[in-house]
Amino acid sequence: MIIIGCGYIGRLLGARLAAGGGAVIGVVRSAESAAQLPALGIRPLQCDLLRETPDALETAGADVFHLAPPPAEGREDPLTARLIELFADRGEPRRLVYVGTTGVYGDCGGDWVDERRTPNPVAERALRRWDAEERLRAWQATSGAELVILRVAGIYACDRLPLARIESGQPVVSVAEAPWSNRIHAQDLVEICVAAMERAPDGGLYNVCDGEPSTMTDYFLRVAAAAGVAPPPQIPLAQAPGRVSAGMLSYLRESRRLSNHKLLAELHIRLRYPNLEAGLADCFGAG
Ligand SMILES: NC(=O)c1ccc[n+]([C@@H]2O[C@H](COP(=O)([O-])OP(=O)(O)OC[C@H]3O[C@@H](n4cnc5c(N)ncnc54)[C@H](OP(=O)(O)O)[C@@H]3O)[C@@H](O)[C@H]2O)c1
Repeated sequence: MIIIGCGYIGRLLGARLAAGGGAVIGVVRSAESAAQLPALGIRPLQCDLLRETPDALETAGADVFHLAPPPAEGREDPLTARLIELFADRGEPRRLVYVGTTGVYGDCGGDWVDERRTPNPVAERALRRWDAEERLRAWQATSGAELVILRVAGIYACDRLPLARIESGQPVVSVAEAPWSNRIHAQDLVEICVAAMERAPDGGLYNVCDGEPSTMTDYFLRVAAAAGVAPPPQIPLAQAPGRVSAGMLSYLRESRRLSNHKLLAELHIRLRYPNLEAGLADCFGAG
């Protein structure tokens, strides 16, 4: 098994697969990331896929998880393009599971959104993800390899909560004006990646979220309450430009409530953390 982009989620996933007896290779860019992998039972392969072709990577017939994000700028994903070239050179995988994002849906005005919704990416980060999906679908059609696409919502975990942001006193948009957003616990995402590799139908496409959307503001307020720290101040949406980061502003322009029915039904997933309450209780106790 090969994990392309073996960072935070890749390490959890790789350790889970290695503990089950799998031989796992993790591709990362930096020496710091590579150094973390052997202790987890993952064989590191350090290589910047945008600039180098890794000599020691045999992809023919492999199970490949693609978790490497596109570069931070532009409307295309050259990393996924390079990966497809690499497969043509080294041999096509058996199956690729792609961890993409729900950003491809764009702003849905707060609608409930399932996988039949026509994507409408607007932000550049979403256009890059859409480009990756389109490239992979074209690759699947000609390569004979199998493809499963996961459109993943905001990832959280006990060691991945916005506590530093909350404690810094940065404002959030008022509850009444905050757009809908969606989340998935990192451990559930790992199990979903495994299920997608093992039992999703070829060509499967899934929203990956816990199915209980709330607003970004609600998320920050609930994390603050669970952690016992002061809640962030609330400001009107009109005051957000200039008072929140450009990245956050881009997320505030999108509102959607994602359905996870297809994921749960087709992959027989039983979420360990079916809502934020369960996830935060795991981090801080049931309150
Ligand atoms: N944050 C969210 O809420 C969210 C939501 C939906 C989807 N996602 C996506 O889910 C995926 C997994 O997330 P994560 O938190 O595990 O991300 P992460 O910790 O940033 O891991 C990404 C990994 O990709 C590697 N990588 C990046 N560019 C590379 C390149 N050019 N060549 C080789 N390796 C490269 C990085 O290597 P180095 O560590 O050496 O830099 C890192 O190990 C990412 O694609 C992320 O964008 C995130």
